[in-house]
Amino acid sequence: MKRFEQKVALVTGAASGIGRATALSFAQEGANVVLADVTQEAGEAVAQEIRASGGDALFVPCNIGERADIVNLIHQTIQTFGRIDCAVNCAGIAGKVSKPVHEYPEEDWLQQIQINLVGTWYCVKFQLEQMLTQGGGTIVCVSSAAGLVGQPENSPYAASKHGVNGLVKSAAIEYATKNIRINAVCPTAIETPMIMHGRRKLAENPEALQQAINFQRMKRMGQPQEVADVALWLCSDQSSFITGHCMAVDGGAFA
Ligand SMILES: NC(=O)c1ccc[n+]([C@@H]2O[C@H](COP(=O)([O-])OP(=O)(O)OC[C@H]3O[C@@H](n4cnc5c(N)ncnc54)[C@H](O)[C@@H]3O)[C@@H](O)[C@H]2O)c1
Repeated sequence: MKRFEQKVALVTGAASGIGRATALSFAQEGANVVLADVTQEAGEAVAQEIRASGGDALFVPCNIGERADIVNLIHQTIQTFGRIDCAVNCAGIAGKVSKPVHEYPEEDWLQQIQINLVGTWYCVKFQLEQMLTQGGGTIVCVSSAAGLVGQPENSPYAASKHGVNGLVKSAAIEYATKNIRINAVCPTAIETPMIMHGRRKLAENPEALQQAINFQRMKRMGQPQEVADVALWLCSDQSSFITGHCMAVDGGAFA
């Protein structure tokens, strides 16, 4: 029997990068998968890839920063598959600029908090509601190394990810006796469109790319699959005594 057979897994940010790898991995391991993303065509394509290889998948267009979208996402999930056993909240955005706190554009600051923190909170809130109704479940939030230590010139992102870790730890305590576990993964540099084309545009900047590589003791970036594997493990029965943990996935960076 596959590890997630007869389980329903919900993945946000499933159109790209870490979320895409997570959704595909859940499907390979037997889960029915609900994929949510603001990017519709790419999200539907991942769902189609799962169906083409014999799995069951539903794509739901969704902006996690909009409460009504999350209510709809949970509703569609329950209508289609009846429950949510595992949720991986991966959707997030990076900052567009590098600026110290006093110069950071206010609109960008608020947007990162709205998507990365408020949006993740909406996801967790309504997933918990469903998991309480059905008697249990597991949640993983994809936070960041920037949720563990400060990141100069990237304060809203770091603040949003520190907030996610605070949410995860608090919720873990609140639901510890309710058969609901909630953990975070905190990756350093993972080779995805976000980091290659985002704030520091590593794809176009060999010096910044080398810096990002050197940050890990392994002297390489991580791959999306290497984060997905940890998220699936945290959702599985193999991690049954772990809750409230914010786990660095960092190639030894914080060793
Ligand atoms: N790549 C890294 O180095 C790295 C490191 C640490 C943490 N992270 C975190 O990992 C998560 C996934 O990032 P990734 O690197 O795979 O990036 P990515 O850009 O490849 O994927 C992010 C996905 O989230 C979706 N998304 C963005 N805003 C959304 C919204 N409002 N509603 C719904 N979907 C939305 C995007 O459309 C995209 O498909 C993010 O939360 C990011 O902060 C990434």
